[in-house]
Formats: sequence, C-alpha cells, structure tokens
Amino acid sequence: MSKLAISTKNHRGEEIPMKKILILNGGPRKNNNTAKLLASAREGAASAGASVETIDLYNLNFTDCRSCLACKNKKIAVPWKCYWKDGLTETLEKVYEADAIIIGSPIYFGEPTGEVRSFMVRSTFPALSYDDYESTFTGKIDVGIILTMNADQDYYDEHYKPRMEEYFWPFHFLNGKTEILASCDTLQVPDYSRYRMASWDETKKKAHHAEQFPKDLQAAFDLGKRLASQQ
Ligand SMILES: Cc1cc2nc3c(=O)[nH]c(=O)nc-3n(C[C@H](O)[C@H](O)[C@H](O)COP(=O)(O)O)c2cc1C
Repeated sequence: MSKLAISTKNHRGEEIPMKKILILNGGPRKNNNTAKLLASAREGAASAGASVETIDLYNLNFTDCRSCLACKNKKIAVPWKCYWKDGLTETLEKVYEADAIIIGSPIYFGEPTGEVRSFMVRSTFPALSYDDYESTFTGKIDVGIILTMNADQDYYDEHYKPRMEEYFWPFHFLNGKTEILASCDTLQVPDYSRYRMASWDETKKKAHHAEQFPKDLQAAFDLGKRLASQQ
C-alpha cells in the first residue's frame, strides 16, 4: 500500500519519509483527561518529525458495521476497505494512509466508548478474511490506545487490563503492534462539591491527579514519539 509521498531530508540531504500519525479522540469531552493525553501523544509524535492530525470521533456521524458485506464481495478488488459511505469514510481513508493511529477513550461501564468500538469494527472487519481468517490488509498500521478511567491502577491491572488486551485484538488485522496506555483514577470533574459524587474523596483524587497525571502525560508523549519513530 502506498503511503502519502511526504518526506523530509536528513543532514546528508537524504530523503527520509515522514511518518503519518492519526490521533482519534474517542471521548466526548474536548479538553479533559483523554483529550489532554492525546494532545501530549500528538506532541510526542510531532517531536519525532511525524505529520500529525487529530480527529474527534464524536464530531462524526457514523455507525457500527452495517453488514453490507461489500468488503467480502468477490467483485471487489481491494477487500480490506470499508465501502459503507457515511461520516467515517473520510477518516478511514486517512487511517489507511497512516503509519500509526493513536486512539483515546474513557472507560464507560467497563469498556471503551461505543464510538471507539464502532470505529474498531469498521476499520478492521474488512481486513478479516472469511476464506481463511487471515488479514487481507496489505499495509501495516501500529495502534496506540490511551484509556482513562476512575478505576485505580490496581483495579485496572486486575480487572480491565486483561479484558482490554482481548477487546482490542481486531486491530491485529492491521498488521502492526497494539500498545495500551492506562491513565487511572482520573479527575472526572474540577469541583466534586457541585455533583452527587460522594463516593469519591476529592482531596485524595486531587492529590493523586497532581502527582500522577503529569507522569501519564509524559507516558502519552513517549507513546506518540515511539509510534512515530518505529520502523
Ligand atoms: C457514562 C460513564 C460511565 C463511566 N464508567 C466508568 C467505569 O465503568 N469505570 C471507570 O473506571 N470509570 C468510568 N467512568 C469514568 C470515566 O472513564 C473517567 O472519568 C474518564 O477519565 C473520563 O474521560 P474524560 O475526562 O476524557 O471525559 C465513567 C464515566 C461516564 C461518563
């Protein structure tokens, strides 16, 4: 598969192809935990010289797979593309051109958001061959996933981590690596006294946030940089 012909030169004047990284915000809030971590991942990718674009999935009008099965139709020459036309189509075209995608999602009732689930199905199901269950995708896209949640690190490690590693397995049809970063015990609101959220200790939450969130931002930066540097 051809990547976009964007390149830069090293100090010897040799062409180095510029990596394309697509950042997908799979949460509804534009300036909260998930979005901030994605912004840091974006900075990390940009610091490694990649071209980066961010798209908010919640701004797009799309659904899960419609089971049109055009991707499995024998008349279709390129089977790994989603042929359903809706608000996700333009973004999927950018995914197919990307070297890596970084998806952010808050955890809702123990799972990523519905938008992230629908995106995952739309971007991977076409690449699943119903002939032999191998991938038909001819390129390679690495996938970084940033999850945010109220759960603390211990709860994540015991309950969510194994589930999330399984949950995102369809991305292996894109032939790259999948890496998950978890930001736990996030600050859900700036002022807990204004909400019926008595089960949270605001002082503890804020202390944890002050100590841990900068480290999570750094980990997100490193993830973006790594994905933009990987061969
Ligand atoms: C509808 C809803 C359901 C949630 N369910 C969970 C959950 O099951 N487990 C959890 O740890 N956090 C849960 N949370 C908390 C969010 O995952 C957490 O606040 C996250 O950091 C929000 O991301 P944001 O700040 O980017 O919006 C839930 C939040 C909402 C709004």
